[in-house]
Amino acid sequence: PAKILTEEIMTNLTKQIEKAVKKIDSVSKKFRPTVGIILGTGLGALAKEIKEHCVIDYGNIPGFQKSTAESHSGKLVLGELGGKKVIAMSGRFHRYEGYTMQQITFPVRVMKALGATHLLISNACGGMNPKLKGGSLCIIEDHINFMGDNPLIGPNDEKLGPRWPDMLAPYSHELIKLAEDAAKRNNIEINKGIYVAVLGPCFETRAEYRMFMKFGDIVGMSTVPEVIVGVHAGLKILGISVVTDECNPDQLEPTDISKILANAAEAEPKLTKIMKEVISKI
Ligand code: HPA
Repeated sequence: PAKILTEEIMTNLTKQIEKAVKKIDSVSKKFRPTVGIILGTGLGALAKEIKEHCVIDYGNIPGFQKSTAESHSGKLVLGELGGKKVIAMSGRFHRYEGYTMQQITFPVRVMKALGATHLLISNACGGMNPKLKGGSLCIIEDHINFMGDNPLIGPNDEKLGPRWPDMLAPYSHELIKLAEDAAKRNNIEINKGIYVAVLGPCFETRAEYRMFMKFGDIVGMSTVPEVIVGVHAGLKILGISVVTDECNPDQLEPTDISKILANAAEAEPKLTKIMKEVISKI
C-alpha cells in the first residue's frame, strides 16, 4: 500500500495537497496560519499552550498517515500562540515507521499551502559532543542527511519548488538568533550543533557513534526530511533538539526509553518557553 500511495503522491502531489487543504478548510473555516510547528519529542507541552481554533485527527485528513511512535499523538492543532496563527502537528511521522519520505513530509506541503511562511521543529537526539548532556537543548545549525533517502526524489513540480534546491542555509540565521536571544533572556543554557540524520529504528553501534562524532554533534531519526521539503517550499526553518541520551561510544549503557523520556520531560518547559518567545517575535 505504501508503494501505491507514493506513486499517487508523486504524480498528483498538487491534487493531494488541494484535497487535504479542502478538508482542513471545511473544518477550520479557512483559518490561515503563518507558523507551522512540528511537535516532536520535547514540544508536546507547547500544544497545550495553543489557544485552539480547531483540532483535526490525522485520520480525517487525506494524505496524512497514522502516527505510531511512542509519545507521538496524531492531531493537527490550529490556533493562536504568541499572537500568531499557528498550525501544529502533534505527533510526526518517521521513515522507520515504514512510511516513505514523501508521506512523512506531506504535512509540510499542506502547511505551506495553507499559508505558513515559517516552520519550527523539535526532536529528540543523542548527544555525541561531550558538551551536550542529557536534558539539554541544541539548536540545529546545519545537518548531514545520512538517511540514504530524500523526499524530493521523483518528478519535480516547479510550482512547489526548484528541482535542485540550495542547502546553503536550511536553518534560518534570523530564527536561530531569536532562539538564542530567548534562551539568554530566560537564563536557559542552549548549544548549537550539527544534526546527523539516520534512518533508525536501531540506535547506533559504537563504531557508528565514533564515525558520526566526526561528522556532527547530535544524531537522530527525524527532522531532516521535513527540513528538506521546507527548504524546497521556501519556508524559514528553526530546529531545536532535546538531548535525550549521551552517546559516548566508550561508556554506552543499554538504552532506557524511560530515561530518554525523562530527559525529554526535563527539557520540555525550557524548549516550550523558547519556541513561544520566538513565535511572538516573528
Ligand atoms: N541515535 C539516534 N536517534 C536518537 C538517539 C540516538 O542516540 N537518541 C535519541 N534519538
